[in-house]
Amino acid sequence: MSAGLSEALAALLDCARETTGFAAEAVQAASLQRFLAARLAAGCAPTEVAAAARRRDEDLVRGLSEAVAVGETYFFRHPEQFRALRRLLLASADPGRNLRLWSAGCGSGEEAWGLAALLAAAGRERGRDRILATDLSDRALDHARDGAYGRWSLRGVDPELERLLPGAAGRVEMPAELRPTVEWLRHDVRTPPPASGFDAVLFRNVTPFLAPGDAVAAVRRLFDAVRPGGYLVVAPAEAPLAAALEAERVEAEGASLFRRPWARAGDPDAARPRPSPAGPNGRDPGGARSEPPRGGPAPAPGGRPPAPSPRRSGRR
Ligand SMILES: C[S@@+](CC[C@H](N)C(=O)[O-])C[C@H]1O[C@@H](n2cnc3c(N)ncnc32)[C@H](O)[C@@H]1O
Repeated sequence: MSAGLSEALAALLDCARETTGFAAEAVQAASLQRFLAARLAAGCAPTEVAAAARRRDEDLVRGLSEAVAVGETYFFRHPEQFRALRRLLLASADPGRNLRLWSAGCGSGEEAWGLAALLAAAGRERGRDRILATDLSDRALDHARDGAYGRWSLRGVDPELERLLPGAAGRVEMPAELRPTVEWLRHDVRTPPPASGFDAVLFRNVTPFLAPGDAVAAVRRLFDAVRPGGYLVVAPAEAPLAAALEAERVEAEGASLFRRPWARAGDPDAARPRPSPAGPNGRDPGGARSEPPRGGPAPAPGGRPPAPSPRRSGRR
């Protein structure tokens, strides 16, 4: 490879890492090579590409972030987590209360549409609940908005969950009545959340793209966007990133979810009504097992929330 091409690739890698926040190993060399080849085919010289990358040319940055983002996903990935949400959240949710869910780093949208199908199958009244689905990639969001998928998005899907999806013969087509449930938005998880107070935030398989410090900060930021008593869901391999959160680890259906503790006295949330935090005798709906937050108080007998205690100072 010529020195000019090597220099252009090095400048693109540096630009991609800085502007997307991706870890170096998350930027595939093949993606950079394809991006460079397309620029050369469009008549740019390698030195021009390198210079545009170095000055963070807006057009190049946008195209490059699309080129390196891999929105690889499929329906009901980690199916045990969807079953756990169904059991912990949907089964016990007050039908009169609107649920708000967030799929952060939604890729091509299968995760968010899967949630919409789960809500519909749980008999939730149409039009009440809302799902926010965000991603850094406009291309992924465009695909997601289309709401049409082929067999590849159904690979390995659990038949019991697949039955919830609208469509036939290996195609999934989101029907008009489900579409208003999901709002699609471009958002970078390295920046403040677009909203807060979610009943559940799914933040799965995105941190491998992020530099380690950004990954830890994003997990904390997204956990803070969960309402007290709500859940943060990360992919099993990402669970260690949630270990330092002041969260209760709830086990259900073979999945671990991170529940934000109920507000303590003195918190602004303390005055809000609590939508059935636990089933009879303090057990989670369906008998899920939960552990108190690290270093936090154990749940009181009878399912009452823990005694008030000061919020840990290092939390935010
Ligand atoms: C592998 S997909 C994950 C899709 C889905 N959450 C899942 O678990 O299957 C990773 C997605 O993260 C997105 N992503 C990467 N960095 C991001 C960032 N800083 N902010 C928002 N999304 C990001 C990518 O564009 C990609 O669509």
